[in-house]
Amino acid sequence: MSSGFVPATEVPPDPDLVPLHRYDPPGVASLPEEPPPGPDHHGSPLLEVSDLRVWFPIKSGVFRRQSGWIRAVDDVSFTVARGETLGLVGESGSGKTTTGRAIVRVNRPTGGSIRLDGEDLLALKGADLRKRRRRFQMVFQDPYSSLDPRQTVGEIIGEPLDIHALPADGDRKRRIGELLELVNLDPRFADRYPHEFSGGQRQRIGIARALAVEPELIVCDEPISALDVSVQAQVINLLERLQRELGLTYLFIAHDLAVVRHIADRVAVMYLGTLVEVAPVDALFAGPRHPYTIALLSAVPVPDADREQQRRRIILTGDIPSPANPPSGCRFHTRCWLYEKLGRPRECVDRDPPLDPLPTDVGHRVACHFPDRGPALSAGAGSAIIDVAGDAPVPPATPPLQIRPVRPSTARPTWSRA
Ligand SMILES: Nc1ncnc2c1ncn2[C@@H]1O[C@H](COP(=O)(O)OP(=O)(O)OP(=O)(O)O)[C@@H](O)[C@H]1O
Ligand code: SF4
Ligand SMILES: [Mg+2]
Repeated sequence: MSSGFVPATEVPPDPDLVPLHRYDPPGVASLPEEPPPGPDHHGSPLLEVSDLRVWFPIKSGVFRRQSGWIRAVDDVSFTVARGETLGLVGESGSGKTTTGRAIVRVNRPTGGSIRLDGEDLLALKGADLRKRRRRFQMVFQDPYSSLDPRQTVGEIIGEPLDIHALPADGDRKRRIGELLELVNLDPRFADRYPHEFSGGQRQRIGIARALAVEPELIVCDEPISALDVSVQAQVINLLERLQRELGLTYLFIAHDLAVVRHIADRVAVMYLGTLVEVAPVDALFAGPRHPYTIALLSAVPVPDADREQQRRRIILTGDIPSPANPPSGCRFHTRCWLYEKLGRPRECVDRDPPLDPLPTDVGHRVACHFPDRGPALSAGAGSAIIDVAGDAPVPPATPPLQIRPVRPSTARPTWSRA
C-alpha cells in the first residue's frame, strides 16, 4: 500500500453527484431533461457489422477432437452511426459479450465483416492492427478483475500511452493527470493501486484507460452491472458527458432495460446468437414487435400503481437452448408464446425469419414471420404462459437510479475530432 493512501470513503465527493436529478424509475416513459446530442445519422455509419459469426470449437475425447461448434454469434448485422449509442440487450448467454469482443478484436470472428469508418478491421494484422486499436476500446463489466492489482493507476493508464507513443508532446505525467480529471478523479491518484478504490472509482480508472488512446468507438460491456446501485448513476452520467465532450460512439451492452432506455439512441435485441429486433429506443419501448422483446419488456415494473395493476407479464418457459444445437427455423420457436397462440405454424419450425424492416416504422426491423400479431395477441386473454400481474410473481422494482443531466467537466480533452 502506498504511503499516501486515503480510504475511498475519504475521497472528496464526486462533483458528478451534486445536485442529483431523479432518474426515471424502470418503465417510465419520460426522458432525461437534457438528453445527449443526437447521433449524426446523415453520414455513413462509423461501425458496420455484417453477417458476423463467432463460433467456438467443441473439443471432446482423449485426443480433443473437434466434435461441433458453439454458435455464440451467428450472422449478426448492424450499424452504429458516429456519436450514436446502440444498446445491445438479451438474456444471459445470448452472445452480447462475444459480439463486443469480436468488434474490438479480442475474439477472432469465424466469418462476416466488421468495418470501422469503411476500413475492414478483420483484414488488419500485426502492426496495422495494433495501430488501429487506438480507434476502438472496451470498458469491461468487472472493474475488480479488469485492472492489474500490481500496477499503479498511473501505470495502468500509461500503458496504452506507451504502446501508441502518446501524447505527441511526450508529457506522459501531465496526460495521465488530465485523463484522471476527465473522469473526475484526482490526478494525485496516479500513484495509488486499484485496491485502494471503490468499484465506481475503479470503473472510472478503466474508462480513463480506454480514453487514453483517444478512441472513436467504445464497447461498454455491462459497465455498471457489477457496481452498487448508488454509484451506477455516476458512471452513466460520466459516459454521457464523455460522449458529448469527445464525440464518442458507444455499443452499450446491458441487462438493465431501464438503463438502456436512458442511454441508448437505438436498441438491438439479441437471442441465441442472432438479432431479433432493432429499433430506435422510443419505438422499441412504445411498440415492441418481436415476441421475445415483448416478453422482456413485460418484465419491467411500472411505477404507476394503476398501470402496474394492468401490466401483463409474459413469462417465457424453459431455458435458452444451447448455441451448440440451436432449434431449427426460428431459434425462438421452442419458447415462443406467439407460436403457441398461433397454433404452432409450420414456417416457424422450417424457416429462419430474416431481420426485415417494418414498412410502417422507419428504422424498426424484426425477425418474426408474424410481426403484426405479437402486439395484438399479447394484450389478449391470459394463457398458461401469459399471466396477469398480481397472479404472476412479479419481482420488486429495483431502487430508482439517480441520473442527472450532463454537466461539462473542467478538464478539457487535448484532442479534437472533425
Ligand atoms: N471462449 C468461449 N468458448 C466457448 N464458448 C464460449 C466462449 N465464450 C462464450 N462462449 C459461449 O457463447 C455463448 C454466448 O456467450 P456471451 O458471453 O457472449 O453471452 P452474453 O450475452 O454476454 O451473456 P451474459 O449476459 O451472461 O454476459 C454462451 O453460450 C457462452 O457459453
Ligand atoms: S417466427 Fe414464429 S416462433 Fe419465431 S418469433 Fe415469430 S411467431 Fe415466434
Ligand atoms: Mg456478457
